Amino acid sequence: MRGILYMTGLAMVASAAFAQAPAGKPPLPPFLKYQMRAPAPPGNRLVSGRDGAALFSNKCGYCHLVGGMGTNLLTKLRAPDHLSGLLAERTDLKPDYVKYVVRNGYLAMPRISRAEVTNAELDAIARYLAKGNK
Ligand code: HEC
Repeated sequence: MRGILYMTGLAMVASAAFAQAPAGKPPLPPFLKYQMRAPAPPGNRLVSGRDGAALFSNKCGYCHLVGGMGTNLLTKLRAPDHLSGLLAERTDLKPDYVKYVVRNGYLAMPRISRAEVTNAELDAIARYLAKGNK
């Protein structure tokens, strides 16, 4: 009996919520403070000129910012060469190397497709990480 009452109540609440839903695009979920990566920068994903640092944070940050598994593994892997585990702190990276690693994968890093990171986005990220290196 109680179960039926609960179900009826739930159905009423649900139908009220649907009745009040505004027309058009549903709102995006809120950006959670505990997520370490930045939201994707606005703009057309196929057109260059978007912010490389923000794209790096959004597309690569869950592995390559502080606490990410890429950072942890690179800290160990590159320690003998005295290189930082944080890609954003490196000054030895070149754009072509970054692009090669992203499209082909590297040790524990999976390769990343053009659906996930477009060529235009990868160009911006590689330029950001290379800091002017050719
Ligand atoms: C799922 C986690 C993950 C994601 C996402 C990821 N990486 Fe990685 N990346 C790694 C790991 C792990 C390594 C280190 C390989 C190892 O030691 O196993 C690595 C290594 C690299 C290296 C090689 C650095 C060196 O010292 O040779 C580059 C460059 C790189 N990543 C760039 C990127 C870029 C750019 C993105 C985003 C487009 C990205 N990665 C996304 C996990 C990730």
